[in-house]
Amino acid sequence: MAGLESPADVVVRNLSVRFGQLQALDKVSLVAQRNECLGLVGESGSGKSTVLRIIAGLIAGWEGEISVVGEPVRDTRRPAHLFRRLQMVFQDPYGSLHPRQTVDAILLEPLAIHRLPIRADTTAQALAEVGLSPDLRFRFPHQLSGGQRQRVAIARALMLQPTILLLDEPTSALDVSVQAEILNLLARLRRDHGLTCILVSHNLPVVARLAQRILVLDHGRVVEELTAADLSAGRARSAPAQAMIAAALHRRSLAASPRLADVASSVEDR
Ligand SMILES: Nc1ncnc2c1ncn2[C@@H]1O[C@H](COP(=O)(O)OP(=O)(O)OP(=O)(O)O)[C@@H](O)[C@H]1O
Ligand SMILES: [Mg+2]
Repeated sequence: MAGLESPADVVVRNLSVRFGQLQALDKVSLVAQRNECLGLVGESGSGKSTVLRIIAGLIAGWEGEISVVGEPVRDTRRPAHLFRRLQMVFQDPYGSLHPRQTVDAILLEPLAIHRLPIRADTTAQALAEVGLSPDLRFRFPHQLSGGQRQRVAIARALMLQPTILLLDEPTSALDVSVQAEILNLLARLRRDHGLTCILVSHNLPVVARLAQRILVLDHGRVVEELTAADLSAGRARSAPAQAMIAAALHRRSLAASPRLADVASSVEDR
């Protein structure tokens, strides 16, 4: 799939899937290069989560081609070494963390499944990595704040030392101030671990915060590719992208700052 250079981390070509009568994805193509953060935006129901879930091997019956670190994958089968390299973080950390497991058990489970070594300080270190105190080890998910839960979900995704993170609306269940903290955490983790990300959101400023390149999905099709600079300048051709920029500006004006550029440039480390 590549010449002499190393292959892109994720390559998707002509990905299509139907759910009954609904053509949920129609020939979606995307490439996420090593260390890149690719944004995927679109209105509710445009197919964003479906793209990530198919890449993660959670949905069967699709057509097209997908390769992960240069290896073609099919259906829902993933060899263990690829499974470890690609992890997903979901929108709702409450739903994605087992309610009867302690934080300790949640973090150690992926290592146990893959029969990887566990040290006495494994969970404390994993918690420190996401800015949490080791005191939280023996709490249950309902005993954590929303932001703490999402940090635990991110820590769990990192336990197998993946190179690719699929982030599905990782901050939309959180308060605005906590959203910013989680986005900064993700930016730092990306930098420290050289992670490749595909970040899904219906919120353009959230995506602009981490992604350099942004694909706009509409009714299961990619209708436009924007750079973070296009976004800051409000440059978009397609109606769905223009509508999302208008919505972001509207939210921003409600928050008393007139320009989307302010939002995109408030990025700590893009
Ligand atoms: N397992 C499924 N069975 C049937 N239809 C599905 C399934 N998963 C998704 N869909 C439908 O496919 C379309 C795309 O869904 P998807 O969850 O990918 O959208 P999304 O862009 O992530 O939306 P949101 O922003 O609301 O999360 C929607 O119309 C949805 O109802
Ligand atoms: Mg979704």
